[in-house]
Order: sequence, then C-alpha cells, then structure tokens
Amino acid sequence: MTNRKKVTLPTLLKKMSDGIPITFITCYDYAMAHLVEQAQVDMVLVGDSLGMTMLGYEGTLPVTMDDMIRHTQGVRRGSPTSWLIGDMPYMSYQPSVETAIRSAGRFMAETGCDAVKLEGGVEMADRMAGIAKAGIPVMGHLGLTPQSVSSLGGFRVQGKDALRAKKIVDDAKALEEAGAFSVLLEMVPDRVCELITERAGIPIISLGSGPYAHGQLLIFHDMFGLYPRFKPKMAKVYGNAGEVILNGLRQYVAEVTGRQFPLPENWFGIPDDQLDELKRMLESGAQVSQ
Ligand code: KIV
Repeated sequence: MTNRKKVTLPTLLKKMSDGIPITFITCYDYAMAHLVEQAQVDMVLVGDSLGMTMLGYEGTLPVTMDDMIRHTQGVRRGSPTSWLIGDMPYMSYQPSVETAIRSAGRFMAETGCDAVKLEGGVEMADRMAGIAKAGIPVMGHLGLTPQSVSSLGGFRVQGKDALRAKKIVDDAKALEEAGAFSVLLEMVPDRVCELITERAGIPIISLGSGPYAHGQLLIFHDMFGLYPRFKPKMAKVYGNAGEVILNGLRQYVAEVTGRQFPLPENWFGIPDDQLDELKRMLESGAQVSQ
C-alpha cells in the first residue's frame, strides 16, 4: 500500500482551485484497485460499465445493485485512500427520489465508497438534491449517458449543435444547484466542455470531452487493451496488458502440454519416511481413527 493521506472532497476542491488536474479512472476489482492505489490516482469510479468489461454484457442495463456492491467492496479493499465513487445502476434511482436516496445509502453503507454517481440532467435534479440532502456526495453524468443509449441513438458525441449544447450547459448548472459535488461530461465537444468548466463552481471532469475540464477520466480496460470488442476514440492505450496475458496463457498451455510445467519449485513434497509409512498403511488396509 502507499502512505498517501485519504483523498477527500476538500483535496479535490483544492486541486480545482489550484488549477491542478484531477486524475480519475474506472476500476472493478481488488487486483486492479491495488495498482490504481499505488499509482495514487485521485478518484476511482466503479462504473456500471463493469457489465461490459467484467461481465460481457452488450451494455450496462442488466447490471444490478448487488453486482455493483460486490465489485465496489473489492475495489475499496484494494484502494483505501482514493475518493471512491459507486455508479448507481439502471433503475436504482430513476423511479423516485426515495428510491434514489435508499440506493445511494445502501451503496455507502455496504461498500465504504465516498460518493455515488448518477446519469441525467435537470430531469434527475430532484434525485440529485435528495441524495445530497441526505449527506451523500453525488456526481452528475451528462453527455453520452450509457443508461439512455437507446434514446440517444447510440454511442455518439452529444451536444454538437447549439441547441443540444445549450441543454447540456443548462443541465450542468441544474445539477450543481441541486448539490452535485462534481459533474462528468462524456463525449461532449471540447469547447462546450470549456464553457461549462468556466461557469462551474464544482469540478468538471472530461471523458472524451477535451482538455479544458478540471480533470480527466479513462476506462481501465480501454487503457490496457483488455476490452476485446472495440477501442473508443477517446481512449489512449498506455500498455497492452491483454497481449502480455495472452502470450503468457499460450506459453502455459504449451508448457503443460510439453511437460515443462510444473517445476519442483511449483509443488509440495512429503518426507520419504512418511511416504513409506503411508504406503505400508495402504497395503495393510489399516483404518485411520479420527
Ligand atoms: O460506467 C462507467 O464506467 C461510466 C463511465 C463511462 C463514465 O459511467
């Protein structure tokens, strides 16, 4: 582990006011979280994208609250000092303000996360306000919101014309006024993101929305070649862990097949006298009393 002090909301707000970009990454299990912790990433999102990256679904809608809770618990154990955000899954907040508060409360109580995130603009502002008033830090998510991908017409850039961009600018303000501690903009044009950032009193985070935000988010699996279906344009690949693992697996298969694995250091022995005794017992049919 690291000796970093726990990242808190004041830490993030100080970075924002000092003009230091906030680092943010998705993460879905203990092993990944352990690495993210060592790299001292500021904020970690257990995204419902785990439905695609970890569970192999086509999208995020089948992900349940139980899925999110289990993965977030593992990430918290691997990354105790990051500012950890649990992503509210489909229909855990849309039905009503009360549903939203109960789901957010369960997330916090059962996982030890620091905050939750939900998708949607002004139409979700009352859920946002309810959660914030319950004392739970909550992040907004605008632009491409994967839980509404069907009504958005697919995974595409949002706010490319003035009218739609104005709606995103207004939504960001509405979420801030409702009590969001931060807003994530996914696949929004860079200069629209800039206008929102200039007008915001809370950290604005970009995922594929350009350099002008207070911080950047990337999806772990896109960064390391671990998602087999596609690589989005907004992702930068920092290493091909998928290739490293695949090469290792191919070598493993070849070594087991060729009897080069295991080697003596990979197994456990029994002393000769104990083995002789065992064989005698087996030959004589002796019964071992419990
Ligand atoms: O689920 C997720 O990882 C997300 C990001 C795409 C922002 O919500």
